[in-house]
Amino acid sequence: MKVLSVNGSPRPEGNTAVMLRRICGQLAETGAEIQEICLEKFDLQPCTACMQCAQEKDGHCHGRHDEGNALIDLSRDADILLLGSPVYFGSLTAQMKIYLDRVGFVSRVSDQFLNRKIGAAVAPARRAGKLLTFAEMNMWFLINGMVVPGSSYWNVGIALAEGDLAGDAEAFETLDELARNILWLAEKIRV
Ligand SMILES: Cc1cc2nc3c(=O)[nH]c(=O)nc-3n(C[C@H](O)[C@H](O)[C@H](O)COP(=O)(O)O)c2cc1C
Repeated sequence: MKVLSVNGSPRPEGNTAVMLRRICGQLAETGAEIQEICLEKFDLQPCTACMQCAQEKDGHCHGRHDEGNALIDLSRDADILLLGSPVYFGSLTAQMKIYLDRVGFVSRVSDQFLNRKIGAAVAPARRAGKLLTFAEMNMWFLINGMVVPGSSYWNVGIALAEGDLAGDAEAFETLDELARNILWLAEKIRV
């Protein structure tokens, strides 16, 4: 079982990373192979809408010569995608939006490699916008045919500075239940 954990925060050790790692810790205990990436460290530009991916249909981007195809390949290879984005002005980060556009579009116009993967999203914020950001990532899972397990609450956290998430005990309970549900689902569909 391969897990790709995609952090859309520019802070590789921030609250988003803490949330994603809480889930990954439980998945790793069962032998899952975890790969953690931070989008900030990738050379990644927005989609140009050149539509070459829809013409070539080879599962790759031809409009940008950056590291988008590396992200596409990593995503294709994973059974489970964990996406995390902090809330920036009520929405997800620019880094995460580029990931969604680039990877999602190529999947949809080629062999739909995202179809039936398991997806789960997390979104920390100081105050407002958590649910919209969470919903944006879940909408991407759903339009790409992915299967989304739930938890005892929505997968959000209350935090501003790096490390603040430690004060949100309910977020950790939610993430632990989410990890159990991911494992249950993966077993059912034999990932
Ligand atoms: C540019 C910017 C915009 C932000 N906008 C919001 C916002 O709209 N609502 C909110 O509650 N927090 C907002 N925040 C706070 C972050 O969501 C919060 O610090 C979060 O914990 C950061 O996660 P990270 O440590 O993984 O980067 C913003 C932070 C930045 C830098």
